[in-house]
Amino acid sequence: MPVCYKIEKENFKLGLWRLDEASGQIFSMFANIATEKELLETEKFKNPARKAEWMASRLLLHELAGKLVHVEYNDDGKPFVAGNEFALSISHTKGMVAVIIAKTKAGIDIEMLSERVMAIQDKFIGQSEKTQLSIGSDIKTILLYWSAKETLYKIEGNRGIDFKKDLLIEPFQIGNHGEISGIVNLRDRIDKYHLYYFFYSPSGERTVYLIVYYFC
Ligand SMILES: CC(C)(COP(=O)(O)OP(=O)(O)OC[C@H]1O[C@@H](n2cnc3c(N)ncnc32)[C@H](O)[C@@H]1OP(=O)(O)O)[C@@H](O)C(=O)NCCC(=O)NCCS
Repeated sequence: MPVCYKIEKENFKLGLWRLDEASGQIFSMFANIATEKELLETEKFKNPARKAEWMASRLLLHELAGKLVHVEYNDDGKPFVAGNEFALSISHTKGMVAVIIAKTKAGIDIEMLSERVMAIQDKFIGQSEKTQLSIGSDIKTILLYWSAKETLYKIEGNRGIDFKKDLLIEPFQIGNHGEISGIVNLRDRIDKYHLYYFFYSPSGERTVYLIVYYFC
């Protein structure tokens, strides 16, 4: 079953799609729900893994929305559905795709737990956040900072956002799942968002994924 995890609430729906099917199989599943235009769009992908992720995100969206919806993008690359009937957000990482739909605003990010994030933490953790982090903070904490900022970026959708200066994550105690607060501090306004997160491993696997999401 490609959809390996689902949350369905009144205000939002979230799904994870495990990309373990053969690429021919996912293409035929996609061809069943795709428009002519979407089938043509798949031809732009040179990388087969990226193409499979793109098709899986549409299949997952179809499953969550319960009907065919066509995704478009604004000039910043932020996805929206025709008529803005609901908000959506998409994320993918190796082998997994995550999609959230919500009434008015949505953001989602999925990351595979790996120590790669430790080497780039100075690029997205600001000075005030550093003082709240204990020296040698663990990979999960640093990954949560990164993923939460990616989620804030996607809610806003504004290409000009500076991860270090404009986005701030408030101090938190990490668990297997939980809630954290993120602040977007732009020149004309300050917005605070209540984000949710959980760590997830597909059954029978050791790979750990972090999912951060927002809905309203
Ligand atoms: C756009 C960005 C958020 C994508 O994140 P990513 O980790 O590369 O990829 P993800 O799989 O999580 O997300 C990709 C999805 O983001 C969505 N997306 C792209 N631009 C977006 C925007 N401006 N707003 C909201 N969502 C956006 C798209 O739906 C895309 O999926 P799709 O192409 O299949 O539709 C990220 O690359 C980015 O540009 N960040 C801001 C700048 C930056 O890199 N700062 C680094 C500071 S160290």
